[in-house]
Amino acid sequence: MRILSGIQPSGQLHIGNYFGMMRSMIANMDSSELYAFIVDLHALTSVQDRERLSRGTLEAATDFLALGLDPERCTFWVQSDVPEVTELAWVLSTLTPMGLLERCHSYKDKVAKGIVPSHGLFAYPVLMAADILLFQAERVPVGKDQKQHLEVARDIAIKFNNTFGETFVVPEPVIDDSLATIPGLDGQKMSKSYGNTIPIFASEKELKKKVMAIVTDATPVEAVKDPDNCNLYSLFKLFAPKDRLTEVHGLYVNGGAMYGKIKLELLDLLWEYFREPREKRAQLLADPGQVREILQRGAVKAREKAVVTLDLVRDRVGLKY
Ligand code: TYM
Repeated sequence: MRILSGIQPSGQLHIGNYFGMMRSMIANMDSSELYAFIVDLHALTSVQDRERLSRGTLEAATDFLALGLDPERCTFWVQSDVPEVTELAWVLSTLTPMGLLERCHSYKDKVAKGIVPSHGLFAYPVLMAADILLFQAERVPVGKDQKQHLEVARDIAIKFNNTFGETFVVPEPVIDDSLATIPGLDGQKMSKSYGNTIPIFASEKELKKKVMAIVTDATPVEAVKDPDNCNLYSLFKLFAPKDRLTEVHGLYVNGGAMYGKIKLELLDLLWEYFREPREKRAQLLADPGQVREILQRGAVKAREKAVVTLDLVRDRVGLKY
């Protein structure tokens, strides 16, 4: 099975990214042919700051490696190091109906939030389709917010195959229902743009500030509470051992759940959960040359695949004479 997914280097990676995508990618390393990459060209639609983008790219790569991605057991690269993707994006854009892109929620949401409605932002899903189709990916693990983009990629693949003959694998999204939308501190989807994230590699002090800021209701301790409607419980559930989760569930439904105490417990669980990756990250940060080298080797590997697909595409559409 060929599995592929990417992540934007547009800020600190958070636990929504981890549970929505990174964890399942890392878990799939041995059982599949895995492609993971940092999408700096996509990030350029919202980060127009040379220093922030280049530092963010190296940091996102460092974080992914620290979390357990092994470059020997997958192909791991930075999107802009494989320029074939932009050529494929152009070809795909010529058969992408405007209406398909006009319907994309993500574009509308970003514009509503004040991001400049550039052509690049509008064409974002076409570049994402190119990312996926260039590597003939069969499965794409993502959070729910990317579902519509996956539908666009599928539509484009089908349209291309119908127009020019069977060329692309039609990719399937992989969305784990229980992890599809990890809530942020305020209960909305955890997202860099809402400022409600728990960064994976926050310092202990920053992490404490974040966890204590998780929004809960104002019911007294004795009150019966609904765990399924509690943001704190949803986050606690991601980290707590089964037995402890059952106990805390009991406190919610029978009364006696103390939010402050649960937050402190969550803080400890979070800190422990990412202990090893944090240590690995410190080592990698001390040697950015090593990370750059890994990415460069990854780009060479990725390009070997990319040129094969692009050559076929050029042939199919008549860009060979
Ligand atoms: P990005 O960088 O916004 O997020 C990376 C991954 O994290 C998931 N995610 C979440 N999952 C659950 N709960 C949340 N609160 C949450 N927040 C983020 C996202 O769904 C995503 O899977 N367009 C993509 C990057 C991309 C890509 C691709 C992905 C570019 N090309 C090709 C797959 C295949 C994005 O902006 O993800």
